[in-house]
Amino acid sequence: MNARNEYRPVYQTSLVDPAEFWTRAASAVDWDLPPEQALDTDRRTSRWFPGARLNTCYNALDRHIAAGRAEQAALIYDSAMTGAKRVFSYGELRDEVALFAGAMRDLGVTAGDRVVIYLPMIPEAVIAMLACARIGAVHSVVFGGFAAPELAARFDDAEPVLIVTASGGLEPNRAIAYPPIVAEALELAGTTAPRTVLVKRRADFPGHDGNPTADGAVRWRDWDAAVRDAEPAEPVSVAATDPLYVLYTSGTTGKPKGVVRDNGGHAVALTWSMRNIYDVGPGQVIWAASDVGWVVGHSYIVYAPLLAGATTLLYEGKPVGTPDAGAFWRVVAEHRVHTLFTAPTALRAIRRADPAAAFAREYDLSSLRSLFCAGERLDPATYRWAADTLLKDCEDCPVVDHWWQTETGWPICANPLGLQQLPIKPGSASVPVPGYRLRVLDSSGNPVAAGAEGNIVIGLPLPPGALISLWRDEERYRRSYLSAYPGHFLTGDSGYFDEDGYLFVLGRSDDVINMAGHRLSAGSIEAAVAGHEAVAECAVIGLPDELKGQRPIAYVVLKADAVVDPESLRDELSERVRKQIGPVAGLYDAVVVPALPKTRSGKILRKTLRLMSAGESYEIPSTIEDPTVLDELARIVRPPQNSNFS
Ligand code: COA
Ligand code: AMP
Repeated sequence: MNARNEYRPVYQTSLVDPAEFWTRAASAVDWDLPPEQALDTDRRTSRWFPGARLNTCYNALDRHIAAGRAEQAALIYDSAMTGAKRVFSYGELRDEVALFAGAMRDLGVTAGDRVVIYLPMIPEAVIAMLACARIGAVHSVVFGGFAAPELAARFDDAEPVLIVTASGGLEPNRAIAYPPIVAEALELAGTTAPRTVLVKRRADFPGHDGNPTADGAVRWRDWDAAVRDAEPAEPVSVAATDPLYVLYTSGTTGKPKGVVRDNGGHAVALTWSMRNIYDVGPGQVIWAASDVGWVVGHSYIVYAPLLAGATTLLYEGKPVGTPDAGAFWRVVAEHRVHTLFTAPTALRAIRRADPAAAFAREYDLSSLRSLFCAGERLDPATYRWAADTLLKDCEDCPVVDHWWQTETGWPICANPLGLQQLPIKPGSASVPVPGYRLRVLDSSGNPVAAGAEGNIVIGLPLPPGALISLWRDEERYRRSYLSAYPGHFLTGDSGYFDEDGYLFVLGRSDDVINMAGHRLSAGSIEAAVAGHEAVAECAVIGLPDELKGQRPIAYVVLKADAVVDPESLRDELSERVRKQIGPVAGLYDAVVVPALPKTRSGKILRKTLRLMSAGESYEIPSTIEDPTVLDELARIVRPPQNSNFS
């Protein structure tokens, strides 16, 4: 156990002198050219360690080998879908990464080039990401649950030179072949789409050899063959401020936002977070039960554990049904997991299947020291179940809610176990993490009193590790995040501080929907729904849901001449959303309404619609164009029966 520092003075120091604080933290990273300056103050955005140089992959792998830990486990792969298990030592992982980096180099990938990675949860996903970092290429990982049009949108924006994919992904009820999805996306994308696709043929994937078409315009290459012919690549030195990756996330409009992460600030912040927040060090096993396609997967499956010399676990499977609600506890017991990180929705799924946590009792969970949750608010009922029922027999194993987002890349608020374990307040993500100057402001930009809800903002500069911009769209970055409250970054979440300085994050203040820990844009679902021939206009909102937190529901106004059967319309709209966004964006319902409530300037009153749909009280806005529309809606909208879970 490390010598603990009290939280409060560390937090204060990080705000009073961020440059000094993060320069000290930077000494935990190996640099090719150490930082002489902490923060580039010439710019309004935060650029950390200008002038310094390093390689993130070297820091994640080679440096631990140089320190004599080549034999230590770096990556444990466990597939509940196939039963496959494999442990990669640091030495083995480095060798595989270096070879794949060499293979990409042979395909013409160089520093600064983008590589889209569309892979299921197999070790090659980690290998491909680290291999990009090794040669300075910028990866953009796309979650396997996204459909071809979403993939195409990412091709168009990131303009990759290479796509890396596999035969397919395994879901409990089906096998999903990826190459046909990639092929369709290539057809949908503009002329800048890459023409080389590298396919990892999974021996355990049923009935697909990887090459979907004989289309001569696309070069389909085999991963194994490419690696067989390759020489290992050495790490390339890059600027700390160079991009490590672009990760697309949902905004309020249909166009995803390409969050850009740098190399230097990211390595420093993530290394610091492992010890000080998660209290995980070299040799300890951390398992983030997420997907590499999400930011949690980027940061706490791949980069942070390896930067810190810990052992990371890559799990292909679900919390329930693969084969049962004991799936997580089998993995914890078998691999002696020290820290587990999951989404509240996963705990709710387990609780629903196994309310008394009988499965958990069948396994030895004595290795577990903490259970971290993020992706959505850990509602008090789920917290209590996890703490009092699930982990009842685990001594000294706190259940920690912590709040963060793709943009920040690491926690904004947490109970910093490595610094000091603070008392837990159910429903709160605890206190601001060092580096984050948080405020809760009203719509005029004034701080609100403790207990009062407002917009949560972060005072600039953002700490290292947070986004440096949006991919090739600095203007949108400023407009989306920096313009609402000058000097502050807008998180898009609303909430309040209590008297003790604990933050309660209550939800998004914009049109982002959070379903099962997956972030979805109401705007893109609306675009899919509005494309139906019978639909004149629509509004999509997130409806509270007991299991998944929220589910999208569409209110639809039909064209005057449309004749449709409501049942078939619902199915057709649902299918459209699955086809255009992906299965993860399952539409819960589509309700035909005579009109949508709007302001006199034509804006749909989404907040009112949200409150009404959730069965909460709402006021009729003074700007409403036609108040009778709300009366009509109130007769049609039936709030869900299960919305009292939080
Ligand atoms: N590739 C293809 N399809 C996928 C997919 C992937 N990687 N991931 C999910 N899907 C599909 C599912 O098969 C499902 O399809 P179906 O409607 O045909 O059954 C659909 O997308 C909806 O998936 P999901 O919302 O995840 O529901 P689920 O019933 O499969 O699982 C949970 C429910 C709670 C178990 C699951 O959502 C979960 O584990 N969530 C945690 C998410 C998480 O870790 N988020 C990161 C933040 S930490
Ligand atoms: P993503 O960018 O996909 O990680 O989603 C980020 C969003 O998820 C945040 O803006 C929040 O709305 C929500 N979120 C994540 N973690 C939490 C948490 N611990 N408490 C409340 N909301 C959360």
